[in-house]
Amino acid sequence: SRSINLAVIPGDGIGQEVVAEGLKVLSAALPQDVKLETKEYDFGARRYHATGETLTDADLDELKRHDAILLGAIGDPGVPSGVLERGFLLKLRFAFDHHVNLRPSKLLPGVATPLAGQPEIDFVVVREGTEGPYTGNGGTIRKGTPHEVATEVSVNTAFGVERVVRDAFARAQARPRKKLTLVHKNNVLTFAGHLWTSVFDKVAEEYPEVTTEYIHVDAATIYLVTQPERFDVIVTDNLFGDIITDLAAAVSGGIGVAASGNINPSGEFPSMFEPVHGSAPDIAGQGKADPSATVLSVALLLRHLGHDAEAVRIEDAVSADLAERGDLPARSTSQIGDALAARVAG
Ligand code: IPM
Ligand code: MN
Repeated sequence: SRSINLAVIPGDGIGQEVVAEGLKVLSAALPQDVKLETKEYDFGARRYHATGETLTDADLDELKRHDAILLGAIGDPGVPSGVLERGFLLKLRFAFDHHVNLRPSKLLPGVATPLAGQPEIDFVVVREGTEGPYTGNGGTIRKGTPHEVATEVSVNTAFGVERVVRDAFARAQARPRKKLTLVHKNNVLTFAGHLWTSVFDKVAEEYPEVTTEYIHVDAATIYLVTQPERFDVIVTDNLFGDIITDLAAAVSGGIGVAASGNINPSGEFPSMFEPVHGSAPDIAGQGKADPSATVLSVALLLRHLGHDAEAVRIEDAVSADLAERGDLPARSTSQIGDALAARVAG
């Protein structure tokens, strides 16, 4: 479409700094005739400290009216753990049915990895985003006693599993290597494991060109380090996906370049794009954060909205910038943003 109506949520800590650069690069990448309208929201610790609110129904109604959401990071040492995570981030993912949590991992030339040699890493994790142990379906009895019992039930529905598995097969089919790996733990989590495995095998019949494999999540953490080149597309549940995408980020250039999209494929609700990293209060306000992860998230946003050429230009700019970084003195967040904006503007 020829206009983008974007909700911007810088959030907390370095979220503020990296989102400013993401917007800078977005503006530079868009052709003249695409009108960009942005509206900023103060969700996160600021809003919570001021009002005690995290995300109200009225907020959701308002956010719903945008084409997409750009999020920096949410989280603050002054807010108890879980309040903003559940009350804002997960609430938004669930309310807007972001069932495809897309997390690409690509080791770009010249980027340092802790792995030996320079393995080819280019895969994408399709993490389920609305089910699993994230649903808050649990409880505690005999709380605070030596006999406390806590449950945290993983919810897996045939509907929820099938739609994310289908999304992953379609992505695998569209990539040159056409390979899809299901990551689960079906030797122990036999109920959910059966559902995931049987849905995966059923959908596989419709994609004869896609090579499939199954790997237990514990073994997958080994292969992500010892043979990351074996992966093309990975599909997995919400919690396994959370864990393995941090590992994937660590081996493919670090959290400074890891981008993500919380996608509602039908477009019924706006999708939300955010760096995988958090608000990093320890370095906030110092201009030390690398905005590349946010800028790459902007590329995912543009691709989602159908602006593929601009997405590629941004990815190429980040790639070129990273390739030359070794020779440059350290730059600030905004200097990196300026350099990327200059590159995409050509
Ligand atoms: C992520 C984060 C979130 C998650 C937290 C902050 C709720 O770790 O986006 O990966 O677990 O999904
Ligand atoms: Mn995480």
